[in-house]
Amino acid sequence: MKFFIDTANLDQIREAQDLGVLDGVTTNPSLMAKEGISGDENVFNHYRAICEIVDGDVSAEVIATDFEGMVKEGEYLASLHPQIVVKVPAIKDGIKAIKYFSDKGIRTNCTLIFSAGQALLAAKAGATYVSPFIGRLDDISTDGLNLINDIRLIYDNYAFETQILAASVRHTMHLLQCAEIGADVMTGPLSVILGLLKHPLTESGLAQFLADHAKANS
Ligand code: E4P
Repeated sequence: MKFFIDTANLDQIREAQDLGVLDGVTTNPSLMAKEGISGDENVFNHYRAICEIVDGDVSAEVIATDFEGMVKEGEYLASLHPQIVVKVPAIKDGIKAIKYFSDKGIRTNCTLIFSAGQALLAAKAGATYVSPFIGRLDDISTDGLNLINDIRLIYDNYAFETQILAASVRHTMHLLQCAEIGADVMTGPLSVILGLLKHPLTESGLAQFLADHAKANS
C-alpha cells in the first residue's frame, strides 16, 4: 500500500519524507489556499518545491472545468515536473480530459469520486488513480469504506490498472480498513500516518526498558 500525504504544507511533507515511508503527495485548491499560496506562478513554484522534497507522485489539480481549459492547464502542470500527476474532477469534461491525457501518456488522478459508477468511467478513460473521498461520505452518514469495497470488486473483475487512492482519510481506522480492503494508495494528513505508531503498551514498555537499563548501569 502506498502512503501519500494530503497537504501542501512543506514542513509536514518534509517530516513525512524523513520518516522514509512516503510515496507521494496529494494537494487540492483548498489545501493550497490554506498555506496561503495564490497566483499562478506561486502555485506552480509550490508544486515544483513539493516535487523536490519527495520521490513519488505529486497530484496537481486543474481549476478549469471545461475540456479545453483542463487540457491546457493539465499539459502545463505535467510539464512542470515528471512527478506531477494531473488531478481532474469526476465530471463529463473531466472524463474526456482524462482520456485525452491518457492517450498522450500524461498521468491523471480523477478526484471527487463519490460513486462506483464515477470510478468505472474514470478507469475506462484510463485514469492512473481514482480518489474516492471516504471521509466526506462518512460526513453525510454514508459508509465511505463500502465505496472502496465496490470499486475494488469492479476493478478486479475486469483487471483495470487504475489505482484506488483512498482519499479524505481522516483517522487511522480508515487507513487500516482501506488496507484490509486492498486500496492501492491512501492519502491522509501526517497525523494519520504517525497515528499508526501510537500504542500505550509500546510507550510503557519502552519506559520500563529504559528504567531497567538505567538501574542496571547506575
Ligand atoms: C484528496 O485528494 C483530497 O485532497 C482530500 O483527501 C480531501 O480530504 P478532506 O475531505 O479531508 O478535505
